[in-house]
Amino acid sequence: MCGIVGYVGYRSVPELLLEGLHRLEYRGYDSAGIAVLGDRDIEIRKKAGRVNHLAELVRTKPVTGRVGIGHTRWATHGATTDQNSHPHVGGNGDVVIVHNGVIENYDVLRKQLTQLGYVFRSQTDTEVAAHLLSHHLEEQIRLGGEPGDVETCLKAVYATLDRLKGTYGLGILFRECPDTLIAARCGSPLVVGVGKDEYFLASDASPLVGYTKDVVYLSDHEIAVLQPGNLRIEHRSRGSVSPSVQTLEQVASDTDLGQYEHYMLKEIYEQPQTIENALRGRLDGEEATAVIGGLNLTAKELRRIDRIVLTACGTSWHSGLVGEYVLEEFARMPTEVEYASELRYRNPPMSDRTLVFAITQSGETADTLAAMRECKRKGHPTLAICNVVGSTIAREADGGIYLHAGPEIGVASTKAFTSQVTVLTLLALYLGRMRHMSYPAGKRIIGQLRDMPEKISKALECHAQVKDVAERYHHFNNFLYLGRLYNFPVALEGALKLKEISYIHAEGYPAAEMKHGPIALVDQQTPSVFVVPRGGIYPKVVSNMEEIRARRGPIIAIACEGDTDIARIADDVIYVPDVEEYLQPLVCAIPLQLLAYHIALHRGCNVDRPRNLAKSVTVE
Ligand code: M6R
Repeated sequence: MCGIVGYVGYRSVPELLLEGLHRLEYRGYDSAGIAVLGDRDIEIRKKAGRVNHLAELVRTKPVTGRVGIGHTRWATHGATTDQNSHPHVGGNGDVVIVHNGVIENYDVLRKQLTQLGYVFRSQTDTEVAAHLLSHHLEEQIRLGGEPGDVETCLKAVYATLDRLKGTYGLGILFRECPDTLIAARCGSPLVVGVGKDEYFLASDASPLVGYTKDVVYLSDHEIAVLQPGNLRIEHRSRGSVSPSVQTLEQVASDTDLGQYEHYMLKEIYEQPQTIENALRGRLDGEEATAVIGGLNLTAKELRRIDRIVLTACGTSWHSGLVGEYVLEEFARMPTEVEYASELRYRNPPMSDRTLVFAITQSGETADTLAAMRECKRKGHPTLAICNVVGSTIAREADGGIYLHAGPEIGVASTKAFTSQVTVLTLLALYLGRMRHMSYPAGKRIIGQLRDMPEKISKALECHAQVKDVAERYHHFNNFLYLGRLYNFPVALEGALKLKEISYIHAEGYPAAEMKHGPIALVDQQTPSVFVVPRGGIYPKVVSNMEEIRARRGPIIAIACEGDTDIARIADDVIYVPDVEEYLQPLVCAIPLQLLAYHIALHRGCNVDRPRNLAKSVTVE
């Protein structure tokens, strides 16, 4: 989703902004721009398309200055055009802003500002904020404020924010106020990088890596004033805030492509390591349980819990569904997984013994954050299962479990899924051992979890086979993904991977449900991908395969190594290592991720930056 970068200091501003925008590309965007405050004016360069196009424009029409802001836009209001790209100018050019989020009352404000004589050059909600700021700046000047005085500018910012409804992360330059960058946050993340005589602004930490390790995460309703050698933060109602400087763990090599052609492939291959990271220090063989440090709840409080609600979006919702099954099986804990976008507006009965987990890779997904806040408001302990340290959800949760998977750059989530499933399994083991699970059962699970990094490496050996399957199936336009029990969420995840990066229509279903509707879609042009490793209801899934075969639907099966029977029914079989049923989502996800990757490559799609999608969905 949109990305913001800003800088004030002694370095070459355009280069720094462009590099920051490149690093934010993974979030998903359709246009980019920068604004630099020079000696006399604010110069803007912006363009629909990639950051490289913008860089070319800056090369042919250079800009100079010591302070600047940049933006990658993911269109919400108004088409992808040069005019709609950020930065946006307010009034006669006295202010220039970049914005993430959505101004919900933009229509009313636009009418009011038009009546006041402001001329709109774009269809965006952001331009409303720019003109409104210019309007309030003029008002402050009429009241006696100096145009170049930071206090005058700040008063205008306060007055503007009072009138905005919705969400924003803002970066603001004032033409008359030299060496000053003002930022404001409500609902859209912003982080300030603290250097020596320089400050950075960004919507996530990636542009800061290699420049500084000291960061300050802004909270909602905070305003930051960045000037060389001076950082000032105020809360809109509580006044001055002393900046809490934290240390960034990310290092530059985390985001290198290395030997891989795409981040998605790199992240698929990282999974033996990321699963190991998720398990590290969390297996207690002596007590046959998991060690989970950050829940911030005592054993007594945890034993009081009689229901768990998991809330998430997209792939994280799919891992939540695996979590529901494993928590119920291991801990006998009634568990539901809720779409965060629904939960935030629903009001399901939840007693004070309900524990809520928000599951999120980025920690910034707007719906997940809102659902978590809603549950918090009602007094439930809310915890996070999150990858990005310092993200809004990680900071606002009462506690939680980090994935330690490292930055996930590919828009299609891969390693985060398997890490989330691993962490949810650890949680189920932990709660299970607190309740009904026997010592030998706990011991067995620990042994099986320990083996998982190796099993995942083994699962990756299917790569050549998957490539071959992708070659033969990439021209189909509809796919069904079918699985049962633990493999139903895997079917959903496989279908999501395929549709988001190859733009092929795919549906995930519980295998036996397909008789109740989707089977009508089956013909020679609609392949079914069956996730059918051996397990308790294996023969039932095989019967479902027979039903598809009887209707001449092509079948790809993901099966356990050594299962030769399956080859008699399926047209193609991809083998994965044999593991316990509750661990099958981990090994079965691998071929499905690779299949989506190779089909997308065959169809010429941009696997790391699929159209219309954003890595971190910070709008509702
Ligand atoms: O960062 P989150 O885990 O909260 O993101 C949730 C979804 O937006 C995300 O999983 C999305 O569905 C991915 N593109 C799936 O690959």
